[in-house]
Amino acid sequence: MTTAANRLLLGDCLEKMNEIADSSVDLIYLDPPFFTERKHKLKNRQRTKEFSFDDIWKQESSYAEFLHQRILKMRDLLKDTGSIFVHCDKMANHIVRGVLDDVFGSEFFQSEIIWQYKRWSNAKKGLLPSHQNIYFFSKTSDFSFNKIFMPYSEATNLDQILQRRTRDKHNKSIYARDEEGNIQQADAKQGVPLSDVWDIPYLNPKAKERVGYPTQKPLLLLERIIELVTNENDLVLDPFCGSGTTCVAASLTNRKYIGIDQSEDAIQLSQSRLDKPIKTESHLLKKGRKSFENANLGALQCLAGIDYNPVHRNQGIDAILVEHHQGAPVLVKIQKDTETLTQAVELLSNAMIVKASKMGFLIKTRVALGEVEAATELSFESKSEDFTIHVLETIELKLKRNISGSGL
Ligand SMILES: C[S@@+](CC[C@H](N)C(=O)[O-])C[C@H]1O[C@@H](n2cnc3c(N)ncnc32)[C@H](O)[C@@H]1O
Repeated sequence: MTTAANRLLLGDCLEKMNEIADSSVDLIYLDPPFFTERKHKLKNRQRTKEFSFDDIWKQESSYAEFLHQRILKMRDLLKDTGSIFVHCDKMANHIVRGVLDDVFGSEFFQSEIIWQYKRWSNAKKGLLPSHQNIYFFSKTSDFSFNKIFMPYSEATNLDQILQRRTRDKHNKSIYARDEEGNIQQADAKQGVPLSDVWDIPYLNPKAKERVGYPTQKPLLLLERIIELVTNENDLVLDPFCGSGTTCVAASLTNRKYIGIDQSEDAIQLSQSRLDKPIKTESHLLKKGRKSFENANLGALQCLAGIDYNPVHRNQGIDAILVEHHQGAPVLVKIQKDTETLTQAVELLSNAMIVKASKMGFLIKTRVALGEVEAATELSFESKSEDFTIHVLETIELKLKRNISGSGL
């Protein structure tokens, strides 16, 4: 029996966990099959290899039994200060919670983390699913836990940060005052303690981090879990490691790891990621969601009364009208302060070619600089064989006229 770390083991985790010493692991994170009743498949970026794993069960009880046997063994492997995080979604969260309550005891349930993310479309009738569940149980009440703080929300009142609070005789929260009635300063605050709802971007199909493994999880999610309940040099185990995300996150945060998977492809892929760990930063988290809202929402108000969807992260398009024209999308661009009209037309034209749009509207927002530009802008209408761009000078009126005149 050994606790040798930084290794990947190929095989059923039920068997392979026997190679790990009891009470030696600080954190176990598992992302097992979710009881989706299907085979998950995906190709790598070069489309040279297909990765897959089965998630088909005879019945709910077979799935529960499969997890129960393995989670029972996982409990033995944890140190008394250790914790387990089990990832699931709406398909099996009721089963997973039951198994964990049974094996660990409901008194050691710490949190149900809701990992929420944005998604864009829904193939099925009903609400768009945009969260998954992660159950956090500790082995004992003496579990390792590092406080993480998040920035205050925009709505936070400055006094809530700077002034000490206490409770009055009716148990109402009030500002604390000294004997002279002066409000007392609060101790330095580091921010808002991390909540159980985590807004971490889903790996989009083009993310650099994506290796083509089905249901690959983001490194950011794993780094947060690891940093929450372990310290440097602690041992992290992922018994269903897939593409090795947990092991890579452990290695990047100076923790030891053991990864297990029954698929040879998964183990090879995990090893290749560990040989060259790529830490990708989420621009979304770094700059904030608002930074991606580059559509000029104020200027788009001139479309009031017309149904449109604002478009972000695109230089050539600020909105798309809901109604199509000749079976193609109608694109709207608002000239930016930094763009000449010619540049704006060019950006919109490029976007129209890519999106096969036949009609576009450019909303002019600034006066021309210099003679050439002024001459171009006198009466601008850009036509090509494939599309027409209408440039609107007096925004509101002209837009309506053009749209009604265009047969929309
Ligand atoms: C949801 S995927 C894990 C994805 C991983 N979190 C990632 O970020 O890439 C589940 C993995 O469990 C593996 N698996 C399924 N049953 C297993 C078992 N009994 N023992 C070990 N691995 C198993 C599958 O091969 C698959 O790679």
